[in-house]
Amino acid sequence: MGKVIAVHSYKGGTGKTILSINLAAALVKHGKKVCLMDLDFRAPSLSTLLKVEKADYWLNDYLNGICGIDKVLIDLTERIRDGGKLFVGLANPTTEAIRDISAKDRKWEMRALGRLLSLRNTLLNDKGFDYLVFDTSPGLQYSSINAIVSADLVIVASTLDKSDVEGTKRMLKELYDLFEKKTRIVTNKVLYGENIKSVKDVRSQMEELYGVPILGVIPCFCDVSRAKGTLIFVEDKPDHPFTKIMDEIATELEKMKV
Ligand SMILES: Nc1ncnc2c1ncn2[C@@H]1O[C@H](COP(=O)(O)OP(=O)(O)O)[C@@H](O)[C@H]1O
Ligand SMILES: [Mg+2]
Repeated sequence: MGKVIAVHSYKGGTGKTILSINLAAALVKHGKKVCLMDLDFRAPSLSTLLKVEKADYWLNDYLNGICGIDKVLIDLTERIRDGGKLFVGLANPTTEAIRDISAKDRKWEMRALGRLLSLRNTLLNDKGFDYLVFDTSPGLQYSSINAIVSADLVIVASTLDKSDVEGTKRMLKELYDLFEKKTRIVTNKVLYGENIKSVKDVRSQMEELYGVPILGVIPCFCDVSRAKGTLIFVEDKPDHPFTKIMDEIATELEKMKV
């Protein structure tokens, strides 16, 4: 039985999108059939980063009831050498589409949740996907809450920024616990120095702070920043330490029973 992983965070810019892409790629490398979905309808990124500028149908259309999920999914398997399969569902990045989805009311969002749950069923049960990876909007956007509700596991990307840490702590109590979601933290963009000398330091400090297990600790890598999102590190930079961390996280995810 497949699993749905939502990658979420309190603040923007914590690395959700980069983590989503590379985790999906790492799972594909492990032979899995993976569907990566852009549920960040307010700031869609996957179409640009994966260089798929045009799609016949977007996830927006699926959630609006205009088409089935088959029409939305794009096969990007050839982007990853040796492995399973990679499909993506993209969010429409045009200004008009962003405006349109931002203006939806609660009733629409409830219906969208129904469609998201049905998408989950179709892809995991009928189409045999091993993993769905949801890239989400930061904070308490309705669309993110829908993504969290539909997920088996929430990976929360957090930096060591004070406001980010405090916000993440609040969300653990008031959001993920409320929905009884299994939650794991990835601490990203870590700069080592005086107080933080090693991965072990970060792990123990964060575990104490959050009270949930830390799935990964990722340093701030200039190479990642410099690539401006144009590389899938797991595929394009197989020897990079970032790739090694992603591979370890993917292994850990496979071991987890959700
Ligand atoms: N570990 C890291 N080291 C350096 N830069 C990073 C790291 N993780 C993410 N970034 C950079 O931070 C920016 C925001 O990342 P992104 O994945 O778009 O965040 P989000 O989706 O949460 O807004 C991007 O420019 C990305 O390349
Ligand atoms: Mg993003």
